[in-house]
Amino acid sequence: MEIRLITPPADPVFLPMTFPAYGHLLTVEVGPKLLGEAGSPPVQPVALGGFSGPKAVGLALLALPLAGDDGAELLSVYLVPHCRGQGWGRALVRAAETMAARAGFAKLGAVWTEGSSGSGWWVKVSQELGWEPPARRTLSVLFTAEQALRFPWLDRFPVREGCEIVPFVSVTQAEMEALKTSQEQSPWIAPDLVPWRYVEEGFEERTSVALRAPDGIMGWVINHAPGPQWLRFTCSYIRKDWGRRGRILPLFSESIHRMVEAGFTQASFVAPVRHPTMVQFVEKHMAPWAHKVRWTWGSTKKLQHEPQGARQAW
Ligand SMILES: CC(C)(COP(=O)(O)OP(=O)(O)OC[C@H]1O[C@@H](n2cnc3c(N)ncnc32)[C@H](O)[C@@H]1OP(=O)(O)O)[C@@H](O)C(=O)NCCC(=O)NCCS
Repeated sequence: MEIRLITPPADPVFLPMTFPAYGHLLTVEVGPKLLGEAGSPPVQPVALGGFSGPKAVGLALLALPLAGDDGAELLSVYLVPHCRGQGWGRALVRAAETMAARAGFAKLGAVWTEGSSGSGWWVKVSQELGWEPPARRTLSVLFTAEQALRFPWLDRFPVREGCEIVPFVSVTQAEMEALKTSQEQSPWIAPDLVPWRYVEEGFEERTSVALRAPDGIMGWVINHAPGPQWLRFTCSYIRKDWGRRGRILPLFSESIHRMVEAGFTQASFVAPVRHPTMVQFVEKHMAPWAHKVRWTWGSTKKLQHEPQGARQAW
């Protein structure tokens, strides 16, 4: 097998060789990593084609972020069935490592879902190639509207007196500014869960809600709609001193009722391991009623500096 860098326009033969969500990256031009995903960071895709003679038989797809400290990401590796089992998959991974190092990245990362096809291969090969041991990254649950209506905590916890749950879209600019100021003065919101970025990036307006207290906005459940009937609970938070004894549950309850009313039939919730209370919440209060519960894993490889190092250009 010969491995070559794919230049635009990529041959459509490569399209079935990666996940549908990454198909647009085969333009090999700068664009969002995920389409239709507000805030998805722009990346430079890199496609490495595997050829047996003139025939395309494999693909490794990478995303090189244009900004920030994240390393490069290996998105997928694929070989047509009759070319498997000859070490070519491993060769594509090595080529991806070399490409990322040449682009000036200090590390290459990969994420995958536990039990997915190819994960056994990946765990074996990544260890052989000196990647760091896999670590859990997120716990995700998928549930239907009917399953959500059976969560035992639904509607069981009242909203604290003097507070009200309002559509997130009705949070005023002044309230948002007040949140930002209080965060600047004494940070209380986990940086990845601040709500104001969604004002710019967009959110699902019918189901996203906020908790308005006399002192201002204290909590929020902000959602997105990756599909016409699929709702994703993206960002939920409540001020810690308000969070005890199920204080965020009225927000989720309201959001779930709105989800049903809006006609969403499926929902997903992803808890990153860096938020252990969220993971515990999902394990205890959502997973037992959900039809799919999955861990995602990740690992990275530290790359040797390659002299060609200009970060973005190809
Ligand atoms: C996964 C895939 C890329 C592997 O390609 P490949 O060329 O067959 O892999 P290699 O020959 O380089 O395999 C390297 C080693 O992994 C082993 N291996 C292959 N599949 C394995 C599995 N499911 N579990 C554990 N080890 C596996 C091979 O036996 C080989 O070990 P060896 O060198 O000790 O014999 C290929 O099967 C494929 O395209 N699958 C469909 C897409 C996919 O699942 N991609 C991965 C996630 S994006």
